[in-house]
Amino acid sequence: VRNFMSVCVKAPHACRPRDMLLAAAPQRSFCMTAAGTVLGGNLERGKGGVKEGRKGGVDGQVRRFEEIPHTGRSGWLNLLKFWREDRFRHLHKHMERTFDALGPIYRENLGAISSVNIILPSDIGEVFQSEGLHPRRMTLQPWATHREIRNHSKGVFLKNGEAWRADRLQLNKEVMMSEAVKRFLPLLDQVARDFCRMLLAKVEREGGGGTGKHSLTMDPSPDLFRFALEASCHVIYGERIGLFSSSPSVESQKFIWAVERMLSTTQPLLYLPPRLLLRIGAPLWTQHATAWDHIFSHAEARIQRAYQRLSSSQGGEPEAGASGGRYTGVLGQLMEKGKLSLELIKANVTELMAGGVDTTAVPLQFALFELGRNPDVQEKVRQQVRASWAQAGGDPLKALQGAPLLKGTVKEILRLYPVGITVQRYPVKDIVLQNYHIPAGTMVQACLYPMGRSAQVFEDPLRFDPARWGSSREEGRGGGFRSLAFGFGARQCVGRRIAENEMQLLLMHILLGFHLSVPSSQDLETTVTLILQPETPPRITFSKL
Ligand code: HEM
Repeated sequence: VRNFMSVCVKAPHACRPRDMLLAAAPQRSFCMTAAGTVLGGNLERGKGGVKEGRKGGVDGQVRRFEEIPHTGRSGWLNLLKFWREDRFRHLHKHMERTFDALGPIYRENLGAISSVNIILPSDIGEVFQSEGLHPRRMTLQPWATHREIRNHSKGVFLKNGEAWRADRLQLNKEVMMSEAVKRFLPLLDQVARDFCRMLLAKVEREGGGGTGKHSLTMDPSPDLFRFALEASCHVIYGERIGLFSSSPSVESQKFIWAVERMLSTTQPLLYLPPRLLLRIGAPLWTQHATAWDHIFSHAEARIQRAYQRLSSSQGGEPEAGASGGRYTGVLGQLMEKGKLSLELIKANVTELMAGGVDTTAVPLQFALFELGRNPDVQEKVRQQVRASWAQAGGDPLKALQGAPLLKGTVKEILRLYPVGITVQRYPVKDIVLQNYHIPAGTMVQACLYPMGRSAQVFEDPLRFDPARWGSSREEGRGGGFRSLAFGFGARQCVGRRIAENEMQLLLMHILLGFHLSVPSSQDLETTVTLILQPETPPRITFSKL
């Protein structure tokens, strides 16, 4: 990290200290002109992060796309460097350093993929406002190829255009609308309470401390993955799968491993042509496809069961109202309404299952860690939660509404540890960012990890402060486009309401029952395996209250 050499590629007149942004420890850098001449120079950067955007070209004209600073012209050479230096695992840190070195906008070519990377909320807002009626993200080609070679339909994650919109409108009704949230919230609450009962039993059984003062230090991540899968199955299939029992099913554990394997093999496959790898039988591709097959067969078995359940109550195909008004989970609702074909229901439900486990289990690890190493913050959140819980009379919706610090905790965790380190869009019209011309159709990435830690964007950015989101303090710093962990607009995360409520409810019940502390409050090392994770899961001390 310290030896990082910045390569700043700019038009000749742009290679000035003023443009190079940032103070403190000088670093060696090369500064290349658009024509490729190495001019040399000192690049200064430091704790301030990205400072200032370029507001106008020297001559007042919008600059050409090619003039945007970049990290090296050849995508294939860059890719080689990334592999050699194992940079993919630390892509978030690479982005942070590159913004520090090159300023608030840069281009990067990796293999066949080119992007313009941005960090400032005003620029991000500009991009989202030009996303059009059918916004697009970067296609995860290994996932798409898997569907194509196995003849599976694609769900919203992988679709585009009108086909995406048609599915998405149906899914929104079952997972995003407030009426749907009211239906599934009690299910999430039940799972969160059961998790805490299981945790309490474990602390009492295995923990030390005096009578009634049990406490246990452990890595909670395996239990959090089980929690996330149990919660997803309950909401999506309307089914409990008993993962908190003393003998959780091996099949479910295999599902958790399969999702992990699918995610960790995606990133290295992203920059290679999957069909070529398929043809040569590359082990990485085989592992990826096998992981997906497992995820599909897990979902398939449950979908079959739910289908039989619903149709047997009607003596035929499931019909509207087959459940007699009982909530049958997202799957049951989609089947009853009959607006999506069974094939499309399968495709979308499988994506919801694949997208719903690690994405919530991992931020929960970070949340327990940050609450544990910030006891004052933890106590403030707990006080609010206690008061709200007492007022709510057991109603989980009311309890969450009365505890905005819980919502702030989740937002704060996702600011510091965004599950996806970027959100991508392809503007449908030409736009101007930092006074550079961006042609329609360019892939632009909003880089959430560096943004969340930039002093230009957040006051005291490394401080874990859930209250920052409730005050006008942050509003005064440029308003919107700063809390983007779930993406934005019509294409934002369709599982957002499930994830937010699931995480808030679990944290609420944990804070009501346990005091959290950490054996080590050192910063966690993080790594990217498509999603941002701790390098080693943190150990947490749970003390019974
Ligand atoms: C903290 C948890 C989560 C985070 C931070 C997260 C983040 C994201 C992000 C950034 C996107 C892309 C949005 C965009 O392009 O604007 C996305 C899309 C998606 N997420 Fe999540 N997600 C989370 C949990 C979930 C859960 C629990 C599910 C399923 C129940 C899920 C299913 C999906 C699906 C299917 C899409 C594709 C939506 C579309 O393209 O229309 N996610 N998520």
